[in-house]
Amino acid sequence: MGKRALERRLSTVVDFDDPQVELEQYPTPADLAAHLVHLADVHHDIAGKTVLDLGTGTGMLALGAATRGPERVVGLDRDSTAIEQARENERRVAPETSVEWIVGDATRPPLCQSKSDPESADSAPSMTVLMNPPFGAQKSNQHADRAFLEATADVADVSYSIHNEGSLDFVEAFAEDEGGDVTHAFRAALPLSPQFEFQREERKVIDAEVFRIEWR
Ligand SMILES: C[S@@+](CC[C@H](N)C(=O)[O-])C[C@H]1O[C@@H](n2cnc3c(N)ncnc32)[C@H](O)[C@@H]1O
Repeated sequence: MGKRALERRLSTVVDFDDPQVELEQYPTPADLAAHLVHLADVHHDIAGKTVLDLGTGTGMLALGAATRGPERVVGLDRDSTAIEQARENERRVAPETSVEWIVGDATRPPLCQSKSDPESADSAPSMTVLMNPPFGAQKSNQHADRAFLEATADVADVSYSIHNEGSLDFVEAFAEDEGGDVTHAFRAALPLSPQFEFQREERKVIDAEVFRIEWR
């Protein structure tokens, strides 16, 4: 299945019913999700891997990955209502691999056995994290993007993450400190609904930045 076909399939995903502003609940658009999943697939980061979608929300990224032959896909969100929505979206998208949905806090480790745990280092399947984390723009959720990256650095071999515009320096410095290399970076349009107060200029679309990071 090509990128366009994946985008059409993901366009059946239903948006948050009642988005919670403090959790920065806005969906990843189907075209961006298809692009990110396709890129990960081309880099052999999905087929046969464990894929973890942190802050899965509607399930968009997990569901995209689940169409590309992963060994296992897990979608995690702290909001049980979002997870219910993601389950419903799984019925719509009907991916070839079923997704394990978990209600949990991505910023409270351990999410699973850490890479640095010698007992799991050899036996654990390779882990790819996909995420569109909260930008950490809300008072109740400040620096959430950093906390999501910290969790990612602990468990992932490779990650793909969507960040607020202007994040390149922060992400590169963070990756360097945590033993990661930013291998790809590109801009993408991210539509946001007006209820998010950090849209002070009332823009409906921001230039998000997407990064692929290899973690050691
Ligand atoms: C920008 S939305 C991304 C949604 C999702 N990727 C999608 O396309 O629908 C951020 C998501 O992170 C979730 N979230 C916020 N803080 C979280 C935390 N500490 N742990 C887990 N999920 C969290 C929110 O509930 C929301 O679903």
